[in-house]
Amino acid sequence: VTPHNSAHNPQHLLRLAGMPAETLRSLLARANDHADHRVAASTPLAGRTVATLFFEDSTRTRTSFTLAATRLGATVADLSTVASSVNKGESLTDTALSIEAMGVHAFICRTAQSGGPDLIASAVRGSVINAGDGRHEHPTQGLLDTLAIARAHARIDFDLTGLTVAIVGDCAHSRVARSDAAALTALGARVVLVGPPSMVSRSLADALNCDYTHDLDALLPEADAVQMLRVQFERGARIASPRQYRAGYALTAERARTMKQNAVVMHPGPMNRGIEIDGPVADSDGSTLPKSLVLEQIRLGVSVRMAALESLLAPPQTGSAPSTRTVARAAHAGAAS
Ligand code: NCD
Repeated sequence: VTPHNSAHNPQHLLRLAGMPAETLRSLLARANDHADHRVAASTPLAGRTVATLFFEDSTRTRTSFTLAATRLGATVADLSTVASSVNKGESLTDTALSIEAMGVHAFICRTAQSGGPDLIASAVRGSVINAGDGRHEHPTQGLLDTLAIARAHARIDFDLTGLTVAIVGDCAHSRVARSDAAALTALGARVVLVGPPSMVSRSLADALNCDYTHDLDALLPEADAVQMLRVQFERGARIASPRQYRAGYALTAERARTMKQNAVVMHPGPMNRGIEIDGPVADSDGSTLPKSLVLEQIRLGVSVRMAALESLLAPPQTGSAPSTRTVARAAHAGAAS
């Protein structure tokens, strides 16, 4: 399946590429309100059933979605084990259709193939949220990273003009890099991909509307945020040796000291401490090394997923809705009750 950057379809959250800046801003503003507990507790998703369908394991992302949906009052069914029926020869879409027949209103999908969630979205009536597909996109991660950067730099109008964000490491295999780049560039930030030639190229940078460099040391003093990526060996990443990779691209304490004082360090996890990032950098409270947002990213992930679920399943009837799909929602509610 080849995912394509089709016009933004407000029924699903499949990608950030092509999402209008105003849609990004209203999702981020809502997530920011959740993060600061400015939204009165309520259960707009009461009576709705959300299924998590992870064909590739990720306890952390799945748990984050489960907490977000539960806080909004939804019933959550973890159907990741059903994913094993695909191994018995059933197709991705047959699996999704049988789950939908049980009365599921939304699917949160992670697939090893790029385009898996697009395929499911084309088959089911309900909403699909892409929780990471191959090396394509991971839209809620892109939103939470953007929210973390905006908050750290007091840009909660979500205009990131003038900020430089470095995305460092295995960009070639990274769905996080693609979603981060889409959101950050749409909001005006300058994004620079940094890594060895096997992981960062001109064609990738051009496709993502980013700059690129192979020289981390030269870029670090300019960056306002540095997002470190895991080397994705399971997707075919090759490095000459961990020592050589570290020499060029690890965020060590020594390197982190060359960053601006108010710059922040980020990592989507899971981290390989001692390979792409060192422990003291990952754990820094900002007193002697740049502040690490690693745990803040995880905290904001729940807020972002609440905002995304609300926008798809419980759009406000009036006012500044993140998106509106009242017609589709009403039709679906009638069909699946
Ligand atoms: C990322 C992913 O799965 O794409 N992790 C995550 O969502 N927690 C990044 C990674 O696996 O390196």
